[in-house]
Amino acid sequence: VVDIKGGPDEGLDRLGQTLAVKGWVRTLRVQSSVIFIEVNDGSCLSNMQCVMNSDADGYDQVESGSITTGASVSIQGTLVASQGSKQKVELKVLKIVTVGKSDPSFPIQKKRVSREFLRTKAHLRPRTNTFGAVARVRNALAYATHKFFQENGFVWISSPIITASDCEGAGEQFCVTTLIPSSREATDSTVDAIPKAKDGLIDWSQDFFGKPAFLTVSGQLNAETYATALSDVYTFGPTFRAENSNTSRHLAEFWMIEPELAFADLNDDMACATAYLQYVVTYILENCKEDMEFFNTWIEKGIINRLSDVAEKNFVQLTYTDAVELLLRANKKFEFPVKWGCDLQSEHERYITEVAFGGCPVIIRDYPKDIKAFYMRRNDDGKTVAAMDMLVPRVGELIGGSQREERLEYLEERLDDLKLSKDSYWWYLDLRRYGSVPHAGFGLGFERLVQFATGIDNIRDAIPFPRTPGSAEF
Ligand code: 4AD
Ligand code: MG
Repeated sequence: VVDIKGGPDEGLDRLGQTLAVKGWVRTLRVQSSVIFIEVNDGSCLSNMQCVMNSDADGYDQVESGSITTGASVSIQGTLVASQGSKQKVELKVLKIVTVGKSDPSFPIQKKRVSREFLRTKAHLRPRTNTFGAVARVRNALAYATHKFFQENGFVWISSPIITASDCEGAGEQFCVTTLIPSSREATDSTVDAIPKAKDGLIDWSQDFFGKPAFLTVSGQLNAETYATALSDVYTFGPTFRAENSNTSRHLAEFWMIEPELAFADLNDDMACATAYLQYVVTYILENCKEDMEFFNTWIEKGIINRLSDVAEKNFVQLTYTDAVELLLRANKKFEFPVKWGCDLQSEHERYITEVAFGGCPVIIRDYPKDIKAFYMRRNDDGKTVAAMDMLVPRVGELIGGSQREERLEYLEERLDDLKLSKDSYWWYLDLRRYGSVPHAGFGLGFERLVQFATGIDNIRDAIPFPRTPGSAEF
């Protein structure tokens, strides 16, 4: 007996063989003396239809109602061509064993349930078609990410999760606290052991072994240290932002992919971002066909064509100044008025990609220095920096990147301007003291990529266990 994974075509070459399937019951129908059980093992979208006559071992158990939706089963049977139109093969059951019964309260019955409802059932939602497909495509995107960078000579670097530095300088960090054992014993509520804010200040003495520490907002600065030693590197790991925003594109914990290229400028950075996106999109179109067809039918009509275009066409590039011009000329009233120097809001970003450039990814470059982070390289005009954002339809900003300021004097000046302490960035400044090189990189929000690639409209459905204000239960 060999195991068979599901799949619409899989098994056609094994007709007549005795095979086993182990999985979870999606539906069960009793029709006179035949029972149809659809079993899914998560390997693909398709269920294995198992057809059981009364002579099958275990038939009585099933007929008596002991197997219901959600139960786990192990089935042996003969693979035969299917009479039905939904699948090409089915399993004629020889023997069925209940591995784990499912209580009738199982909340995900056949009827379609909303994604809002499923967010309250984060432990069971992977058993649905949508979340199974998202999980498999997310996995394929992660694999393709490593494949792309590895094939192009990048070295993967793990950047720390606990850090003292604030890469973006925006103060949107969660701080790390240490629960002191004595206070843990003293109270049965661990919450009481967390240091209390005194006069609005946290008592740092109880933080990371006596020092302030935070959850990282970005691994970029750490990636830069390795890029200035190993040349091209990338990180791929969780990052955290304490922005209290309840939108469909923000999470408090998200995964970020951050390549850092040595001996490279902004043009190299944009070329890398474009090649990367085209590579991973092509990868899922070729390797996740069944799941992509599902998204195309049920989640976002036309997504396959849209992604095929992204994989083939050149992306639009324009400067921030030109983008502002374009928005000022737009025949549309924005909620946030536009003027040179303002940060682009999601309504502006969406107008640019969706309306002005008909759904094509757009890279905007050379932003005003005052709206961007301290590490970005000053352009010759003195007003802008060598920054770039890649915007895509429906998601908005998918990528944020820049050429880094590699000149010590300009970087120090910038830290002073922003009243950031040179002492706390001493090691970062050292990289400019000892063999500085032009370098550039970007950060891509992995869940936003999953949204873009699947058409899932809420970022909470693009990660297995979303962390947003007020949600950290599972
Ligand atoms: O634009 P950001 O803040 O850039 C950086 O962190 C740089 N240090 C990256 C670099 O150059 N190495 O964030 C990068 C990307 C955004 O474009 C967005 O896709 C994603 O990270 N992102 C978020 N995704 C989900 N939830 C949030 N709260 C996010 N904040 C940023
Ligand atoms: Mg950004």
